[in-house]
Parts: sequence; C-alpha cells; structure tokens
Amino acid sequence: MSARLLKEGVYSVGAVDWNERNFHGHTYVTRKGVTYNSYLIVDNKIVLIDTLRKGFEEVLLENIKDVVIDISKIDAIIVNHIEPDHSGAFPKILKLCPDVEVYGTERARQGILKYYGVNGNWNVIKSGQSLNIGKRTLNFIDTPMMHWPDSMFTYSAYDKILFSNDAFGQHYATSKVFDDEVDFTLLMDEAQKYYANILWPFNAIVAAKLSAISKLNLDIELIAPSHGLVWRKYLSEVMRKYFYWSSHSCKNRIAVVYETMWKSTEKMARKIVEGIISENVEVALFDVTKDDRTDIASYMLDAKGWIFGSSTHDAEMLPVIAGFLHFLRGSKAMRRISSAFGSYGWSGEAVKCIEDIVSSVSSLNCPSLKVVFNPTDVELDKCFEFGKAFALKIKNEI
Ligand SMILES: [Fe+2]
Ligand SMILES: [Fe+2]
Repeated sequence: MSARLLKEGVYSVGAVDWNERNFHGHTYVTRKGVTYNSYLIVDNKIVLIDTLRKGFEEVLLENIKDVVIDISKIDAIIVNHIEPDHSGAFPKILKLCPDVEVYGTERARQGILKYYGVNGNWNVIKSGQSLNIGKRTLNFIDTPMMHWPDSMFTYSAYDKILFSNDAFGQHYATSKVFDDEVDFTLLMDEAQKYYANILWPFNAIVAAKLSAISKLNLDIELIAPSHGLVWRKYLSEVMRKYFYWSSHSCKNRIAVVYETMWKSTEKMARKIVEGIISENVEVALFDVTKDDRTDIASYMLDAKGWIFGSSTHDAEMLPVIAGFLHFLRGSKAMRRISSAFGSYGWSGEAVKCIEDIVSSVSSLNCPSLKVVFNPTDVELDKCFEFGKAFALKIKNEI
C-alpha cells in the first residue's frame, strides 16, 4: 500500500494487517483483519497523526516517504491514543526525527514513557487547545475512555476532518479508503461489532461526549478513524448509530446463548427458540463454543432479551459460557431482560451461576428453567412455553 490522498495535503499513511484474527489479546476475533490508520498533514509544518502497531514501522515509513521523501522533515507527532496498536512505531519515528514536537494529553505522555521509555519533546494538550501549522489550525478535543483515559480527537477545520482515533472505527482490512467504496451493510456490521467489543463498556461517557461535541457544531466532511474506512458518505448514519448504541437502546430481539455437554441443554435451547418464534419475535441461537464471542456480543448490543443456557458441571456452569459471561459483564449493559436454563444431573448449580453474573448487567431476571438429564416431551413443551412467555415479556416491555 502507498500513501492515499484524503484531501489536498492530507494523506492516509497507515497499514493493512490482513491476517490478524485475534486483536487485543484474544478479546476480539477479527475475521476481516485490521487496519492501523495514521494520517499525514503537509502544511508549513508536517504533522503525523498517530503511529502504528509495532511490526508495521517499515510500512509507515514507506508511506510517509511517498509524500515527504525525508522522514526527518516531520515537525510534529500527534498522539491521539497510546494503545500499542497506535503507538508501536512511535520510538522508531522519534529516533528518526529526534527534534520532532509531540502533542498529546498528560496521560498519554506518562503512558508512552512507561511503554517505551522515551516520549521526546512532549507538549501536554488540554481539551480546547489548538496548534497552528500554517493554513491549518488543529484543535484538540479530549475524549477520555474513547477508548482509554489518554484518548483525544484532533479536528482540522480547514480540511473539515475529524481524526477520531478508536471512535468510529471498524476492524475491516481492505484496499479501499472511504466508506462508500465498500459494501454498506458489511461496513455497518463491522462498525456495530467494533462498538460492541470496544466501546460498549463506556456508553455513558460516549453519549455525554458525543452530545458535547455535537454542541460544538463542527463542520465535518470526513471522520478519519484509526481503524478501517474513512467516513465520508455515511457520516450521519454512523453518528446516529453511535447515539443509539450509547443510549442503551434495544431492538425487540432475543439472543439465546448456550453451551451443552450431552445435547440436553441444546435440545432445551432449540425448543425455547421455537417458543420465541411462535410469538413472531426475532431471535438468534448461538452455541458459544462454535460462534465467535465477538459476533455474539455484536448481536447482543441492541438485543432487549438475553437467555443463557448451560449444563451443570462440577457444580458450575460450563467453562466457555463462563468465560463469555465474564467478558459480557464488562459491557455494563443496562435495561435488558434475561433468563437462564440448563440440564443437570443431581445438583443443577449452573443456572444460579448464570443468574449471579447476568443480574449485574440486566434489570429484570425472568424465572429460569432446569431439567434433569435428557428433557422429556413434557419438559420440552415447558421449554417451548418458557420461550413463548419470554417473547411476550419482550413485546410488552417495548
Ligand atoms: Fe484503543
Ligand atoms: Fe485501536
């Protein structure tokens, strides 16, 4: 890949990581790969916005050289966020440009120093401060917890571009640059998956920050995130989605997520789904050992109803769903209706284990359902009725 022109004097100089499948350790399954976006602005001063993940330094340098030839001509690095996917190449750039001025929040300054032992000529940025680089004045907006405490946006009024770092990102490796160059549905699916797996825990902060930013009445033609496509045609769509997701809004839909030992809990799950369908409510069934937790979380982001099932094993729920629920608890979701079910042999603790975790993220627990060993026809009828009753509750709540 080479440098891509976004607007006169503004280039995308990042890298495409086609093969990354487990981002963030193993918290995010990235079936479409990842991009690490950096941007170069050429004005009286040459400014690099964010660097890349370690291992992609040479790609970044090659792309910058496409534009400015001499790397040492970079006057400033803006560190919108210190997470290693955006800062791994920072030490290398600093080495090549020892006199470069660096701009970022105080938390970013401390974090970069801790990660790399260097932070260069650091200028601490406070929200509302700006930097003149010639024709352009760059404005900084602190956005703590979008995604980490150090995060900030950079806005160029001259270009009408908001450099939003992690916000508005998607994990979508592609040779394209702009949102209207890829399939819209796939793009929005990836944006939703990204929100569910990166920003969901910070809903309250995202909602407050978005409304504060919207009051600034910034003239924005492009949102340039540090992952995925640049928003140019679908700005209002993604913005509307961010307001919707961050407000804990839900659809009339139900996710049934289970793990089974000898298929008894699975039989229950399938009958529960039939009961839900009989009430004409949207439902999706996930075997947590087969489906990517990343996709399940994405579906659950705006699903009003959550039903979890597990067989009991050693007085606990099964291990994969246990891991998933601990992961989900971090979402701090609100206003969900939930329930639990499962098959057991002699003690049946799994349902209680599920309820204990899910009660911290849902506002209403419905009665749960347990059966001993293999469900009989009568018990399967009960599962059907359980699903039907749950679906009715969802319909009446909306
Ligand atoms: Fe991040
Ligand atoms: Fe990131």
